[in-house]
Amino acid sequence: QDSLPIPQPTTRFLMGNLGDIDPSNSAGSLWRLAEIYGPIFKLSLPGRTMIVCNHYETVVDLLDGDRFEKVIDTTLTELRALLKDGLFTAYPTEQSWGVAHRLLMPMFGPLGVKKMFGGMMDIASQMLLQWDRFGTRHDILCSDIFTRLTFDMIGLCAFGFRFNNFYSEEPHPFVGQMANVLTESGRRANRLGIENRLRIFSAAQNIENVKAMHDLCDEIVADRQAYPQPDSDDLLNHMLNDKDPETGETMSLENIRHNMVTFLVAGHETTSGTLGFLFYHLLKNPDTYMRAQQEVDEVLGDGPLTPKHLSKLVYIKYAMYEALRYMGPIAIFSKHALKRTKIAGKYDVAPEDEILCNLFPFHHDPKVWGDDADTFRPGRFMNGGYEKLPRNAFKAFGDGERACIGRAFAEQEMVLVVALILQNFQVEMSNPSYELNIQVALTFKPGDFSIKVRRRPGRD
Ligand code: HEM
Repeated sequence: QDSLPIPQPTTRFLMGNLGDIDPSNSAGSLWRLAEIYGPIFKLSLPGRTMIVCNHYETVVDLLDGDRFEKVIDTTLTELRALLKDGLFTAYPTEQSWGVAHRLLMPMFGPLGVKKMFGGMMDIASQMLLQWDRFGTRHDILCSDIFTRLTFDMIGLCAFGFRFNNFYSEEPHPFVGQMANVLTESGRRANRLGIENRLRIFSAAQNIENVKAMHDLCDEIVADRQAYPQPDSDDLLNHMLNDKDPETGETMSLENIRHNMVTFLVAGHETTSGTLGFLFYHLLKNPDTYMRAQQEVDEVLGDGPLTPKHLSKLVYIKYAMYEALRYMGPIAIFSKHALKRTKIAGKYDVAPEDEILCNLFPFHHDPKVWGDDADTFRPGRFMNGGYEKLPRNAFKAFGDGERACIGRAFAEQEMVLVVALILQNFQVEMSNPSYELNIQVALTFKPGDFSIKVRRRPGRD
């Protein structure tokens, strides 16, 4: 088939399409352009060409692992200052990715994640205790509380380390250092190289933050080496002691450090943002809140939550999927072609082109999701709805061998937390007329979204 030209907004001298992207909300700009240009469009940016795929027909073609692979795009390149060859930012050719991936996969499988149930309950209980102490008049800022929660969970479950974010007024310094580095990396990725070179103060600040985070990870490792915990089955023990089943190699101490920071970044921002979005949707759509609470009452009653309950909380799981579909914390992931090829059989691309999977328009394509794609409706996944979706229609957790290794961890963590909250508390919005505003850092969260909670009668 003959190739078709890829539509492109008008370019400007030297700047190309830079003016089409809002540097403080590049994903928002890509959604707006998708509405104008449809399935695919192209942007010329200084030094690179970016091709953005928006609909099922174009995105699904990129998921062919024989022709396309993950590319470390500009944002991920900026993040390498912090995460180096950790799983998230490793180049496809980097040997350390394969070693860490094969060695860690079993811990992130369903059985490995079940072993983390106790740690997750420990931290979730701390949060509920704090909510009781807050009382009914306190505004709980979701982005703050869920960040404390998910940070503490990944710290405890993965490294046996307590950040103790529910025991201090201010979150652990690591939380702020990380937020600053993530925001600055996103900004640097959307600025001209010359502008970045001129921002000497923010660059120095970034280096200082990165060093503080690396130091903390090194201290946790040194502590474990000085005081081994042979009975612990956590990630840190496996990283220090296991061998790659394929090559027999162990993970280097540097690679362990970069994967520790990787798990702390990838493991908290995403889940905390999703929990915020989920509560926003449940509260905006009270029928879905009632349905979720009813499920918890049927499955748990007022008894304790145990691992065997999790798979029965189906509506809650699909409400979480629906929140991720509607707008997840990760807006795009990037690919490039292994050699010259045509996307959807029509659009020519070269290996040097950066190709973006634009998840918001992809997850709202009416050809897949129907006329109510813009409605929050967890029921669409129920009764076999998820299984009946066209292949690869739901990609909130990424794709192929570089898909999210923490998916089972995240799902267990979120279902557990939502179930415990709904079992014990009645939740309402602090401001009932709140409208979603998106807080943009590396990932998305609902900005300035607060809730109030009240113990349910008979549930203390
Ligand atoms: C990769 C989404 C939770 C660890 C990814 C990718 C996506 C994603 C889309 C692929 C990125 C790309 O292709 O560039 C999510 C979402 C989550 C979540 C939506 C929660 C709602 C977690 C958790 C952890 C984690 C809890 C750790 C415990 C990782 C890692 C990678 C990754 C290490 C890189 C994997 C590799 O390339 O080998 N995630 N994630 N994620 N995620 Fe997650």
